[in-house]
Amino acid sequence: MYHPGERPRDASIRVWSMVDTANAVTKAVVPAAGLGTRFLPATKATPKEMLPVVDKPAIQYVVEEAVAAGLDDVLLITGRSKVSIENHFDRAYELEEALTAKEDWDKLAEVRASSELATVHYVRQGDPKGLGHAVLCSAQHVGDEPFAVLLGDDLIDVRDPLLTQMIDVRQRYGGSVVALMEVDPEEVALYGCAAISPTNEDDVVTVTDLVEKPVPGSAPSRWIIIGRYVCDPAVYGILRETPPGRGGEIQLTDALKVLARQGEVRGVLFHGRRYDTGNKLDYLRTMVQFACERPDLASEFIPWLRKYLDGIA
Ligand code: UTP
Repeated sequence: MYHPGERPRDASIRVWSMVDTANAVTKAVVPAAGLGTRFLPATKATPKEMLPVVDKPAIQYVVEEAVAAGLDDVLLITGRSKVSIENHFDRAYELEEALTAKEDWDKLAEVRASSELATVHYVRQGDPKGLGHAVLCSAQHVGDEPFAVLLGDDLIDVRDPLLTQMIDVRQRYGGSVVALMEVDPEEVALYGCAAISPTNEDDVVTVTDLVEKPVPGSAPSRWIIIGRYVCDPAVYGILRETPPGRGGEIQLTDALKVLARQGEVRGVLFHGRRYDTGNKLDYLRTMVQFACERPDLASEFIPWLRKYLDGIA
């Protein structure tokens, strides 16, 4: 937050007077309406966001992250198979009664935790016409405020508070903020990639352009967009005008590209731990990493894993 009397470190930083409530980020939008085709057949009747990472669905980690960043108004964009997501964030009276009868207080607390986490709202994206279209479905709930978007299958380690940092950048610079991660040159073509220029802060950049899945060799940088955004409400107007792009889908990247070219997008360079659960290989990696770090599992799981790997080597 900028304090009166302090010189802005960058000419493009907007000077907010006091705590600017109109610009405070209070709402999180979690799109979870995609078809999850990379994870079929598991995702035929279950959203991929509900697949467990050890013993919690991926989407619960994401909602916990939003809450940890101070956003306890959470709008989930759901589609088919919405019921399992709704049930997960609701009370489960029969289960709670059974656990109470057994005096299993630990499990009871775990069952209740997801229903007490946040104020969860739902909107349905009838036709999954892309991430941009999913975000547009949040317009009525969010209104004329900046808001965070957290992809429901993309996990950020709780020890690396990326979203808090992004909200802080939004408060100081205004506009929209994307999270960027550096990848090997041969991987850039798989993602949305950012053209960036430095600010006076080490891990904050100005995003000057965005290129979705650049042709190999033509990428403007090795920094790709990952699944956290803080969007200015201006993004809604642009999304309404954005024609379907690749695969007939309305892309959030296309709308952010318009804002980037107007100088309205910053990037936070993320050096922390991110786990993708939306495809099989990364999901397996995530599961093993989380299991190895769980105090209640690690002491048995790690020796077993070592032995197993020695056996197949
Ligand atoms: P993905 O592109 O990873 O999801 O979208 P997908 O389309 O379900 O995946 P595949 O390629 O078919 O396997 C990133 C996030 O945006 C949501 C997804 O649920 C995921 O959390 N999404 C995507 C929507 O909510 N609606 C859409 O129309 C598309």
